[in-house]
Amino acid sequence: MKIRKAVIPAAGYGTRFLPATKVVPKELFPIGNKPAIQYIVEEAVQAGVQEIVFITSEGKKLIEDYFKPSPPLEAFLKEKDKLDLLPRIEALPSLAQFHFVNQPVPKGLGDAVLCAKEIIGNEPFLVLLPDDVIWSRRSCCQQLSDTYQEGREAVIALENVLKDRVSLYGIVKTKPAGKGVHLIQSVIEKPALEEAPSTLAIIGRYLLPPTIFPILEKTRPGQLGEIQLADALHKLAGRGETFGLEFQGKRFDVGEPQGLVEANLALSPF
Ligand code: G1P
Repeated sequence: MKIRKAVIPAAGYGTRFLPATKVVPKELFPIGNKPAIQYIVEEAVQAGVQEIVFITSEGKKLIEDYFKPSPPLEAFLKEKDKLDLLPRIEALPSLAQFHFVNQPVPKGLGDAVLCAKEIIGNEPFLVLLPDDVIWSRRSCCQQLSDTYQEGREAVIALENVLKDRVSLYGIVKTKPAGKGVHLIQSVIEKPALEEAPSTLAIIGRYLLPPTIFPILEKTRPGQLGEIQLADALHKLAGRGETFGLEFQGKRFDVGEPQGLVEANLALSPF
């Protein structure tokens, strides 16, 4: 089945980037001359996604503006004979069909994904967390999609992380299920190292079935009093058929300043 839709949660305050995020959404910080969010959108589009649902909050209107046409800027570039710059902006609105859904209260990643329920409907979909920018020859979303097409119900990107980092991620307990593929048996959100069943961490790319929505609706607040996607995945995994894929590629955590600098050094065309 083709994966046509994706959800990009982008409602958070970006506190690790204060004071810059006081007015500028962190998703618009550039890697080279291109905002981080565009890398994420392009990854989804390259994997065949046609509709993207952004989950945003007040203060994130600039993200919406970024993917809209800008007739005055286009007219200016034409008038000043800067036609070579036009393609940089003209294609943005037609990369995909964009939807913007407001998450009124920051109730967690699980709640953010649930906000996309009506638009996603009854089909499998991708979730891309914009804090994780991933460089790879075959995009991470494409790798998840290829693994999904082999007949799996849900496929989640995994990365083996250092022991001192496990408390920052959803951590999985798994059984081997093929080359780089794991059957997920349980998920625990941000465990202390002593409680972690492994060092395999969930990274911000998920290919999920629509059956995750009723599970999310029943998921009670967990860590930080928020509705955690990891808790819903734990329940989904309890039914079997939830897989993890150790993707090929290099991930940059652009949700923190050091990661954004590293991404700029590695990915910027300049
Ligand atoms: C979120 C998820 C976590 C996952 C991580 C991947 O955490 O809650 O399970 O491992 O993304 O980046 P956050 O980084 O938003 O705190």
